[in-house]
Amino acid sequence: MTQAQVRLYYKNATADAIGSEHGIEREQLNALGQRLAPLISRLNGTKEERPAYRQLPYQTQTLEKVNGLVAELKDRCKNLVVLGIGGSALGNIALQTALSPYMYNLDPSQRSGPRLFVFDNIDPAQLVSFLAWADGRLDKTIFNIISKGGDTAETVSQFMIVRQLLWDRFGSEGYADRVVVTTDPNEGSLRKIAGTDNLRSLEIPDGVGGRFSVLSAVGLFSAAMCEIGIDQLLAGAADMDARVSCEDFLSNPAAINAAINYHFYNQGKKISVMMPYSFHLKDLADWYRQLWAESLGKAEDLRGNEVHIGPTPVKALGATDQHSQIQLYREGPNDKLFTFLAVDDFGADLTIGPSPDCAPELNYLAGKKLSALLNNEKKATEYALLESKRPCLTVLFDKVNAYTVGQFIYLYEVTTSFAGELFGINPYHQPAVNRGKEATFALMGKQGDGYEELAQQIRSMTDVDTAYLV
Ligand code: PA5
Repeated sequence: MTQAQVRLYYKNATADAIGSEHGIEREQLNALGQRLAPLISRLNGTKEERPAYRQLPYQTQTLEKVNGLVAELKDRCKNLVVLGIGGSALGNIALQTALSPYMYNLDPSQRSGPRLFVFDNIDPAQLVSFLAWADGRLDKTIFNIISKGGDTAETVSQFMIVRQLLWDRFGSEGYADRVVVTTDPNEGSLRKIAGTDNLRSLEIPDGVGGRFSVLSAVGLFSAAMCEIGIDQLLAGAADMDARVSCEDFLSNPAAINAAINYHFYNQGKKISVMMPYSFHLKDLADWYRQLWAESLGKAEDLRGNEVHIGPTPVKALGATDQHSQIQLYREGPNDKLFTFLAVDDFGADLTIGPSPDCAPELNYLAGKKLSALLNNEKKATEYALLESKRPCLTVLFDKVNAYTVGQFIYLYEVTTSFAGELFGINPYHQPAVNRGKEATFALMGKQGDGYEELAQQIRSMTDVDTAYLV
């Protein structure tokens, strides 16, 4: 049986579709193809030359370890709680939304794994409410603490709250039995604590940064606990690895995607809107937002020149945002590239009922499928944008399953690498995020390494000056 696929459709970003003032010409695309060709082969290079995340589709040991842990814990886990932030949470959320039923947490008949909660923020009101609900259920609750660095203030603070709670309730062994840590193999406070507290742990491989880590133990453990087919997820990624390794530019979807995005950025379309027409795909757009923003938004290029470069990713949802954003997208500034995510087979459907006798004007909808309405709404939006000469890409999913989601994730990770090469920046670091983490350490009273001076400097700039308060 042939596997469902993910494909990139790019005609509606070309001059053939929207004219040469706003569309990309064939010659321009070919010229970018020539620039990218050596970069594709370099990124395909030896195992050492390839970015570390490109090994993830082939990590049999991690699969075995994750499956082993799931077998050990699943029967006594009714609630799985992920504590993490950024790349240590967005992928988990996206996989769950994409691949589990909408009512998964609420309806036991729609799941055979635990309920899943992902806390990627530290609003006390939210956590207090959750812990009140979880209080009588802690016995059958497992906490998966995820942090690559192992010292991120948000995640370690949540962890220290939960650690004390579990320790007080169940003693040191009972606490240790309810925690799984996913972190760097050697570095960071979480790794240290996992050792001293004797916690189960999973490793995030060296060189795999947060936003490229969803296909590592970071995303795989919670997904496998919730019965998502992680072997299919990795198989889809491996399939896409072959497609994006292709050195023929016009057959390589990541290379074309990166080239088109790069072209439009340089043509003044610096905003990149991803708009899924599928509820299940909506959090993949959130995941993409982080991947694109943190990887490509950089102050310096690879030669150390100040460039302040980077497309701004925006998330919208079809059809919902047709009634919120499309007015701007169609009639406001022509400064955006649109990427729709569309699904052919939703795996479920409904037929619209007959129109009431008093409203025969609704007859045109009666008997039609809801999937047809949604997909026609996508076409209607695309048509409206094309009429206004706005470039549009579409990523087409034959269906949404673990295989195609694995393909999509890998497609966008490699697109990001190629785009980083074109922009001439390092897509794998995040100095601005790290600066924010340090500022938080300083304000929360961390000692040494100049944190006291940093705290003073921050306060002098951010304490409220009442002369300006109205
Ligand atoms: O992509 C990244 O590197 C970041 O967004 C991190 O994922 C985020 O800051 C959380 O870091 P950590 O996993 O080290 O706690």
